[in-house]
Amino acid sequence: MSVNTFNKEINRRISEVAELGKYLWQKGWAERNAGNISVNIQEYMTDELREKLLPTATSVLPLDRAYPSLAGFFFLVTGTGKRMRDLALDPEHNSLMIRVTDAGDGYQMFSLGELVLNIHPTSELPTHLAIHEYLVLKGAKEKTVVHTHPNELISITQIRKFCNEEALNHLLWGMHPETMVIVPDGAGFLPYMLPGSQDIADATLKKFAFHKVIIWEKHGSFAIGRDVFEAFDLIDTLAKSAQIYFQCKSAGFEPEGLSQEKIAELKELSAKFLA
Ligand code: 13P
Ligand code: ZN
Repeated sequence: MSVNTFNKEINRRISEVAELGKYLWQKGWAERNAGNISVNIQEYMTDELREKLLPTATSVLPLDRAYPSLAGFFFLVTGTGKRMRDLALDPEHNSLMIRVTDAGDGYQMFSLGELVLNIHPTSELPTHLAIHEYLVLKGAKEKTVVHTHPNELISITQIRKFCNEEALNHLLWGMHPETMVIVPDGAGFLPYMLPGSQDIADATLKKFAFHKVIIWEKHGSFAIGRDVFEAFDLIDTLAKSAQIYFQCKSAGFEPEGLSQEKIAELKELSAKFLA
């Protein structure tokens, strides 16, 4: 593995994305090319690095809509069609860097290695950029967006009665006390839409005003975090709750769940824990 030396901070993010790829694969959430990851690395782009990189940029590719607040921003993104298990071993050939154009309506690509770039950003780039733009405008500390296909959460959305935020979160919070502590805002729920589209990006974005993690019906989950691990933890915690639900069902009984009263008590604890 020979990732270009950008600087310590950027190299660290490249390694973290690769490490997360390993987790997602080990979790069994990353069949073939499932899932994608992006990191806003703008704060680590020095003038010196920018000058070194810009001559190596590809020609400009258009975006379906403009992201004016991301003009000139650099991101690390996973490549479309790339496997998480390959990303873990070889980030150079499975992820890349992009820079949004000054007009915000296109992007240029940069290789993480010496080789000619034969990789394009994830097909879910519209959703990733929409979320990053929202985070930048909000001045949020979250810099990473993670999308994955957790079996347990997808399975829950195959059950119609859980396909609304109230029922879904009541179920997930009730399976394990940690879930309310770590995900006090609960998960946003998005009814099924065509993946990779601008429509799903716009609809997902609206949900992030209220939640840090969103479940896409019959598809997977999106989460934000200060680093990729924080985003992963949100999804992992929800997935554990869903897993407990299904384990109880497989053992032949209906799980009792925590009462509303106990859930409310945990919400107070969460406010102290996450403060
Ligand atoms: P990409 O390979 O384009 O990132 O797509 C994977 C995916 O999970 C689509 O929702
Ligand atoms: Zn997906």
